[in-house]
Amino acid sequence: MRVLVFTSVSKRPSWKIPIMDSAARFNGPHFVNLRKTVIFDDQMMRISKSGPLTGRIKVPGDKSISHRAAMLLAISKGSAEITNFATGDDCASTLRCLKALGVPVSKNGSTVQIFGKGKRGLEEPATPLDCGNSGTTMRLLAGILAGQEFDSLVVGDESLNSRPMGRIAEPLLEMGADIRLRENRAPIKIMGGACLRPIDYSLPVASAQVKSCVLIAGLYTGGPVSVISPPSELRAPISRDHTERMLTYLGAEISEEFREADGEFSHVIKLSPGSELQARDIRVPGDISTAAFFLVAAAGLRGSDITLLDVGLNDTRKGIVDVMQEIGVRIEVTNKSISCGEPRGDIRVSWDGDCELIESNLKISGGRTAALIDEMPVLAVLGTLLPGGIEVRDASELRVKESDRVDAIVKNLKRMGGAVEEYEDGFRVSKSNLTAAEIDSRGDHRIAMAFAVAAMFSEGESVINDAGCVAVSYPDFFETLNGLVD
Ligand code: S3P
Repeated sequence: MRVLVFTSVSKRPSWKIPIMDSAARFNGPHFVNLRKTVIFDDQMMRISKSGPLTGRIKVPGDKSISHRAAMLLAISKGSAEITNFATGDDCASTLRCLKALGVPVSKNGSTVQIFGKGKRGLEEPATPLDCGNSGTTMRLLAGILAGQEFDSLVVGDESLNSRPMGRIAEPLLEMGADIRLRENRAPIKIMGGACLRPIDYSLPVASAQVKSCVLIAGLYTGGPVSVISPPSELRAPISRDHTERMLTYLGAEISEEFREADGEFSHVIKLSPGSELQARDIRVPGDISTAAFFLVAAAGLRGSDITLLDVGLNDTRKGIVDVMQEIGVRIEVTNKSISCGEPRGDIRVSWDGDCELIESNLKISGGRTAALIDEMPVLAVLGTLLPGGIEVRDASELRVKESDRVDAIVKNLKRMGGAVEEYEDGFRVSKSNLTAAEIDSRGDHRIAMAFAVAAMFSEGESVINDAGCVAVSYPDFFETLNGLVD
């Protein structure tokens, strides 16, 4: 029985805004008439309680790895191909900015060819560099631009222009860059001609974007650059380490160590001076943060059996697989391999008759929170199925993502009748029977996708507003989900 209903519903008169240089927000047959325009604010999706999911799918390429591949190849020597490049609007923003910087880029489906200009070969952009909704584009690109001879202006959409950028300006200023912000927010003006100095920078937050920005700017200094992560109980990198892996893959010299104090560990990454990058082809694995929505949906829909093919399994990203194992989901990882320095494999979630989710009092805090930061909206939904619920702490960073995700999670779950408590740095969700509701996605792709999953667990028909925002990371999300329903 097909119980998902995907229709777009206009509640009030809409205005249509053409999207610049971007694929349509919806590609599926339901939205054919919207291919060239997107309707903001009143784009809605109806979803009803679902039966089991079955099938084998490939999710789009990892967004974090795709951004890095494009940017680092742009400043490498030589040309190279990226396969399985992420299909969403965020990575399209990165390509658009690189083109504006004079980098020849050709794209054929999800294969992208980048003709590297070397570290000093970029050209002054004729227009502001528009990062759209993409924080990764803005923060990593700033590291490249700080080392250039020309001035640039970096801008984003309303959500991105409200997110904190002082966190990248601070280390870049310390390195000698000339950066101007408006109350620590974008637009960011980056003046050319600065002579960047080496730095040993202690990150105030466990942010991979800030770490990456400093390391990339470090390519433009004449000495060693170190980035030190905040202390954590884990003797492991706590924020994603794709930049370090890719810099190494492209020929830079990177080393790491752990410093121990008071029983905690700080992860230190050191970039050696004089690192030049040499272009090499990059195969991007599927995005585990996107896979997470399907994994949770299958775990909650009795009788499901789905396999997600060729998904990234980097230790700093695969926390969702570990959580699933911990709570008794039947999850298997097969066909493991490593390419371009990144582990990958197939992930299967299946039900075995009476398989039940177990009482585990799941509490996520400290370093584990940083590693699961993008999965928090869907983990909150998972919490409604667990006998002991789920508690998330040390997650204040969620408040400065594409939306205030703590607030969005708590308010939307409450609308669905979920038992949820809000903390300044997280939330607690207890086992709840959800009922359909109107969901406010806040234009945040991960909130829209997480609550699409919640709607599949709920009695009645839910409506998700501004559902077109899923195109930021996964334009075909709803169609793919629909295709898995028996
Ligand atoms: C990302 C890092 C994380 C994550 C974001 C992508 C990256 O942000 O939330 O979706 O690609 O480096 P922070 O570095 O701000 O934690």
